[in-house]
Amino acid sequence: MSFDLSVIPHKNIVLAVTGGIAAYKSAILVRRLKDYGFDVRVVMTHGAQAFITPLTFQALSGNPVHTELLDPAAEAGMGHIELARWADLLLVAPASCDTLAKFANGLADDLLSTVFLATKSPVWVAPAMNQQMWAAKATQRNLQTLVEDGVHVIMPDAGEQACGDVGLGRMPEPEEIARQVAGYFHQAQRAIAEKFGLLAGKRVVITAGPTREAIDPVRYISNHSTGKMGFALAAACYAAGAQVTLIAGPVSLDTPNGVQRVNVASARQMLDVSMSSLETGCDIFIATAAVADYRVAEVAEHKIKKAGDELNVSLVKNPDIVATIADQEKRPFMVGFAAETQNVEEYAAGKLVAKKLDMIACNDVSRADIGFASDENAMTVFFAESYHMKKRELEKASKQEISQQLVEAISDALRRK
Ligand code: C5P
Repeated sequence: MSFDLSVIPHKNIVLAVTGGIAAYKSAILVRRLKDYGFDVRVVMTHGAQAFITPLTFQALSGNPVHTELLDPAAEAGMGHIELARWADLLLVAPASCDTLAKFANGLADDLLSTVFLATKSPVWVAPAMNQQMWAAKATQRNLQTLVEDGVHVIMPDAGEQACGDVGLGRMPEPEEIARQVAGYFHQAQRAIAEKFGLLAGKRVVITAGPTREAIDPVRYISNHSTGKMGFALAAACYAAGAQVTLIAGPVSLDTPNGVQRVNVASARQMLDVSMSSLETGCDIFIATAAVADYRVAEVAEHKIKKAGDELNVSLVKNPDIVATIADQEKRPFMVGFAAETQNVEEYAAGKLVAKKLDMIACNDVSRADIGFASDENAMTVFFAESYHMKKRELEKASKQEISQQLVEAISDALRRK
């Protein structure tokens, strides 16, 4: 699983590289950490510099590399105390036997060991060494001490080693280490969102994308909806602490982190899944799907053969999903969307009442710069009369930012309920 950290505030990683052949993997680790959006500063021990140069890390991290404790020039810039404070996480990879021993015993005779003692941030070590050194009693004793001191150990992999031995002691691949670090911040953020987020404790169900109505086994009726708005909203609701179920028509989008996705094709399938979501629990229902208004009356069992100049297909009306859910006795807070090309506000306000919604977000799809396949959107949100706030304008912004504003609007309305 990968982690989208775009919703997580910027984080700083001090990556400490110590002396071991696995140091070459740390160059790639810098890249992978930066891929997740972390700011990375590299500290190198003297041993590490025998394997790889500071210049490599400077180029990859985009920051000066820190190597000396007692260098007046270096300490005048970002010295050991500043580095220790700057770090949201100190990651030591590879962590040599010597470094583990220093950490376990509180030695402070170089830059890394002083940063370790001076930081309040979590410390992670990824030991990498010869399998015999890993198994040595002293190493295991030091590791035990570090674990008791609250240091997190990324266990080494087993396998063939650079020295020719086979056994435990290989540093895990950089992708895996970066993924674990990102996962840690993701979990930490999640715990905060679930407690304090605008939608903390809420169960949200979102319909998204088009529906696909079969004509015969190979043909269908559909529309151009990409599902981007619904997917962005799912991510925003999750980031706000909600448990999110995304009922998606056929779209080619990745499922946002933490979101439970159910794929459907037709409007009737979308309705079935929506109805059963009420049974499992739903506090907020958001209908962004572009549901096909009609479906083919009789789906042909076999592929329809070419014959004659005309082909008539009879259509029947599809159920209105959002209106059906809003009609249930134990109905959730209902949010609809309206895409209009004229009299935008009038039509949207009409749908708010007709479909018994609590809130409707509408946009003008006659504007070429927003809506449907576009990455940006601008909207006007209308609330049902009982909320005593008639409407709210959402300025043109990315679908992510609009989603955030919609989450705020939903949360405001819920507080007034
Ligand atoms: O009536 P119209 O299609 O313009 O209404 C749009 C709103 O109703 C959207 O929120 C859409 O997801 C929802 N809808 C629905 N089921 C339908 C048609 C629309 O849930 N069959």
